Amino acid sequence: MTGKPYDVESGDSVHPGDPVVVDRYTPGARINHWITAISLVLLALSGLALFHPKLFFLSGLFGGGQITRAIHPWIGVVLFFSFFGLFFRFWKANLWKREDGTWLARLYDVLTNHEDRLPEVGKYNAGQKMVFWLMSLLIIVLILSGLVIWDQYFFAYTSIEQKRVAMLVHSVAAVTIICVWIVHVYAAIWVRGTIGAMVKGRVTGGWAWRHHRKWLRELVGGKRADHKTGAPPAE
Ligand code: HEM
Repeated sequence: MTGKPYDVESGDSVHPGDPVVVDRYTPGARINHWITAISLVLLALSGLALFHPKLFFLSGLFGGGQITRAIHPWIGVVLFFSFFGLFFRFWKANLWKREDGTWLARLYDVLTNHEDRLPEVGKYNAGQKMVFWLMSLLIIVLILSGLVIWDQYFFAYTSIEQKRVAMLVHSVAAVTIICVWIVHVYAAIWVRGTIGAMVKGRVTGGWAWRHHRKWLRELVGGKRADHKTGAPPAE
């Protein structure tokens, strides 16, 4: 949280020259996010090492094949619980709204940087919301299919046929979530100022006005802004 004061009505900085900043994420949300992010990267690397002999060299990062095989499912458990935390923080802000359909229908304008032709959106746009729900679904599929093939603890509970199906489902879900993750990271880098939201917890007023105007309006509209400090609350 910045706590940097600015006038909530006009959005003007109280101290002339200070840029307007808007809180977007609490330290708790950021720590939660980065634990999730690190887990997914480690999970993908260890999973790919087990996926194909050509990628087995990746197991060297974890200290060898045996250790990779042993820790991969545990990293999955960390990812599951960590994402669970993110899910409960953000699910409400990711509910589909009327303007999201319009935003999506104008994807061409999004990709060609014609944001003036897009509807005003709340904290997240339709693309971010789709990534959020896809990640949620895929993580559930990954943990459930992963448990079926976690022979060290659950060998006796499922049949060989079930394990075969689970292995296929697990692999397809893993490849899909890696693609979704690439889209997520690409978008975060492509929209300048977004990485700062998850690193420092705040964005500039210009960023919020340009990309999430409805969200900014809601914040300065006073519903949830702190009128003493003028700082809108982060989530
Ligand atoms: C390691 C690379 C990653 C980077 C650089 C990254 C970057 C970011 C950034 C900058 C934001 C803020 C977007 C905004 O406020 O508009 C964000 C939000 C978010 N990220 Fe990531 N992220 C990464 C990995 C992940 C992973 C692996 C997951 C989940 C499996 C994840 C889930 C989320 C969620 C749920 C949000 C909140 C947005 C929403 O609810 O729609 N991120 N990320």
